[in-house]
Amino acid sequence: MELEDKVILITGASSGIGKAVALALSHKHNHIVITARRKELLADVAESIQKNGSEALAVAGDALDEEQAARVVREAADRFGRIDIALLNIGAGPSLNTATALPLDIKQNMRINYDSMINFFCPMVRQMKTQDGGGVIANTNSLAGFQGMPTQGQYSAAKAACRIFLDTARIELKPFNIRILTLCPGFVVTERNKQRGIPKSLTMTLGQAAGYILKALKNETREYLFPPLLRNIVTIGKALPQPVREKILAKMATSD
Ligand SMILES: NC(=O)c1ccc[n+]([C@@H]2O[C@H](COP(=O)([O-])OP(=O)(O)OC[C@H]3O[C@@H](n4cnc5c(N)ncnc54)[C@H](OP(=O)(O)O)[C@@H]3O)[C@@H](O)[C@H]2O)c1
Repeated sequence: MELEDKVILITGASSGIGKAVALALSHKHNHIVITARRKELLADVAESIQKNGSEALAVAGDALDEEQAARVVREAADRFGRIDIALLNIGAGPSLNTATALPLDIKQNMRINYDSMINFFCPMVRQMKTQDGGGVIANTNSLAGFQGMPTQGQYSAAKAACRIFLDTARIELKPFNIRILTLCPGFVVTERNKQRGIPKSLTMTLGQAAGYILKALKNETREYLFPPLLRNIVTIGKALPQPVREKILAKMATSD
């Protein structure tokens, strides 16, 4: 889909990848709906979108609240008449170790990654089913969703859950011309990743990550793993015998 003059909703757009994608899209005369909890940051992003020549609608809300998520979709559709693309981007992966983690922290991570996506997914499907031409629903997933990673077990599990759910949706929503994309970045340079000491050669800037996401949205790539170096590492990793894979991951964890 050409990314010009489209109505695009982005969740988690007050910072990080969501904000970078919103700004990258704002140069192409789009109508961009942004949502997150922090109102002031959203207002700043909306102002930049408008300065860059696109229309912005900022709707603050907590994505863990089903009603609030539905309201965001409703307000976007009321304002612009349709939603061509939804990037369901909210998520987080704080470090937790399964030897010490509490049930609440593990389950909370499923809520922020999986429940937040579902709360937007259902009203979005309802909306797109009514539209001529359907639409695109994309999820910012993660390369971590292909393998249980040390200190990221709960996050890997949540992202894998999103990916598998969307695999089903892709089949079931085809008759409605709703296309489903799972976008899987590797490490992006954020404050948190800087503190984790991830080698620079393995990270992308926010601008690079946004560039990959725009490419996948335009090409409607069903499942897109990026950047290429980490995509190859994940692909090779998946092909290794499990004990070998576990040994490598354990070594990586102890050298942290
Ligand atoms: N950074 C990476 O290296 C990396 C790698 C692979 C995948 N990802 C994925 O990329 C996505 C974006 O991550 P990021 O690194 O850009 O993180 P980020 O800067 O922390 O962005 C997260 C966004 O989600 C919003 N959010 C969090 N909880 C929310 C809630 N309950 N309701 C509404 N909005 C909420 C935050 O806004 P408010 O706090 O204002 O609500 C923020 O806008 C996530 O799904 C993450 O798993 C990141």
